Amino acid sequence: MDSILVKGNGPLNGVIPIAGAKNACLALMPATLLSEEPLTLTNAPRLSDIRTMTQLLESLGVEVSALQDGKVITMSSHGLLNPVADYDIVRKMRASNLVLGPLLARLGHAVVSLPGGCAIGARPMDIHIDALTALGAEIELRDGNLHAKTQGGLKGAVHEMRFASVGATENFVMAATLAKGTSVLKNAAREPEIVDLIHCLRRMGAEIEGEGTSTITIQGVDRLNGATHPVVTDRIELGTYMLVPAITGGEIECLGGRINLVGAFCEKLDAAGISVTETERGLKVTRRNDRVKAVDVVTEPFPGFPTDLQAQMMALLCTADGTSVLEEKIFENRFMHAPELMRMGAKIEVQGGHATVTGVEKLRGARVMATDLRASVSLILAALAAEGETVVSRVYHLDRGYERVEEKLSACGAKIERIRSE
Ligand code: EPZ
Repeated sequence: MDSILVKGNGPLNGVIPIAGAKNACLALMPATLLSEEPLTLTNAPRLSDIRTMTQLLESLGVEVSALQDGKVITMSSHGLLNPVADYDIVRKMRASNLVLGPLLARLGHAVVSLPGGCAIGARPMDIHIDALTALGAEIELRDGNLHAKTQGGLKGAVHEMRFASVGATENFVMAATLAKGTSVLKNAAREPEIVDLIHCLRRMGAEIEGEGTSTITIQGVDRLNGATHPVVTDRIELGTYMLVPAITGGEIECLGGRINLVGAFCEKLDAAGISVTETERGLKVTRRNDRVKAVDVVTEPFPGFPTDLQAQMMALLCTADGTSVLEEKIFENRFMHAPELMRMGAKIEVQGGHATVTGVEKLRGARVMATDLRASVSLILAALAAEGETVVSRVYHLDRGYERVEEKLSACGAKIERIRSE
């Protein structure tokens, strides 16, 4: 397993290109199952999660070809499809559950392994099951698999979700595009990745309204066509790199960044003393003073503060002037970066869904371990500002969601290198 060595090296300055959104691409790729014609995605991120989704779709019978070093993905599911999503792939990545809705819509049946829990929580599937059942699916849990089928095809329905689940919104919307009649999803998730998926489905001929709001209306159609669609910028990678000048000082321009992708996040940065300026080509970020101010953070569904930026924000607040309280309301166990940050001298007290952080002047380099995707990058951020050397182990977590981290940060003056394990 590779590690990453970082030596704290003072303020960082430069330009960082932001890639296409992992969480948009992981929903866009299964959409190919809805049409017999090819779906091409451009601006795709080059990540291990995308390779896992490629593996899964190929196991279902989809032809996938990656061009331009993986930035362009062309998929075609005109052939015979296998309706079984195998545990060995699904267990590696929860987003595999996003083939359930499209397979049901296209084939009328599917077997998808339960993804199982992961480091940040149990992550059940009940909201997905309720949503697809509302469209007429019969879903039964047997031997660790969801066995789903529908007699005579899916039928449009009005359904209100108990929680604005991102994945369940995506499964419902994709399934409803081919259901008979009109569907209305209430308490729908509003994330930009869902807006991007709906833009792509509309390009494929779907009739959908209300993306970005809590009520999405879908008029079922008989078939969908192929399309070419650019993956939206990754707002979580964007927010992560915006924290680099915040924690080390200096000035970084994040190419492709737009304020509307990170509204609530920018409000918090402003309160902490960080300036964000929208330029023609991205977002320019600088710290107004030598030390950021403590701020409280509560994670919420979009447009609230993103849970996927909570770990990174905690790293920043470990160096803030004052005490901050972070409340994690989306996942039940998403503070595993805290003990690792404490190894670097951070002062953090975790109680249930709350973490109280008392800022220190300087963190100190240490050997630390990545536990999940966003925790891993929060350790990198802390290491950039720490005194001395830090070695982050198990960086396979990092490679799931961040492409070429060392390259992007070294270009801004960071002393960072990958230590390859044999
Ligand atoms: C998506 O996961 C993202 N993943 C996550 O990003 C992100 O943290 C999450 O949305 C919240 O924004 C992808 O888009 C691939 P949810 P998803 O369904 O769809 C509970 C990252 O770091 N829940 O909105 O799985 C669930 O346990 C990843 O890139 C149920 O109880 O999130 C969680 O506590 C991590 N039953 C909460 O809802 C269900 O049926 C939010 O889950 C579904 C979810």
